[in-house]
Amino acid sequence: MKIFIDTANVDEIRQAWDLGIIDGVTTNPTLIMKSGRDLVTTLKEISEIVDDCISGEVISMDAEGMIREARELMKISKKIVIKVPMTKEGLKATKQLSKEGIRTNVTLIFSANQALLAAKAGATYVSPFLGRLDDISQESLILIEDIKQIFTNYEIKTEIICASIRSPLHVLNCAKIGADIATVPYKTLMEMFNHPLTDIGIERFLQDYAKSVK
Ligand code: E4P
Repeated sequence: MKIFIDTANVDEIRQAWDLGIIDGVTTNPTLIMKSGRDLVTTLKEISEIVDDCISGEVISMDAEGMIREARELMKISKKIVIKVPMTKEGLKATKQLSKEGIRTNVTLIFSANQALLAAKAGATYVSPFLGRLDDISQESLILIEDIKQIFTNYEIKTEIICASIRSPLHVLNCAKIGADIATVPYKTLMEMFNHPLTDIGIERFLQDYAKSVK
């Protein structure tokens, strides 16, 4: 499974990239706002760090506006993937952008039918949100299983990005289901490293090494 980092914080992206554990980045307007900088500057900097797959989200509500924004964002780097909302206008834009060879990530997916429609419109990626479904007591993993099954049944090439990830367990379960990608916040990525037996093991090895070199 590929791992993207879900942040617009360039320091976090650089640190994760240096560890060799990420394959791409997803941003959204909230993450851009939190970074304290504008979308274009941020995407430019990110594209100097990572090799590919950097999602930048359009904010227009009509397809023409989305397409216009997308063409502008593509001038920053060919590594950019255009994130469009799961709306009728978003799907129209997806269809056109796909014709132009511009990759799209249809976001705010909360049902398997939405994922199917986005794929039909030519989406490169769909982003079903786990955490926000869990927040309203809906089983988010069933959504990932359903999308995976439908895409497998019909050999649909659109890739599934598990988004709104809140815990290492979310990542583990998405990987078990066979999702293509999980986009993970920096904090959760760091939590995935931890195991107390690793720490105990390192300490013991170091102690034993010290005893052996008298
Ligand atoms: C990623 O593409 C989404 O924008 C992001 O994962 C949303 O996460 P949140 O529900 O924690 O805001």
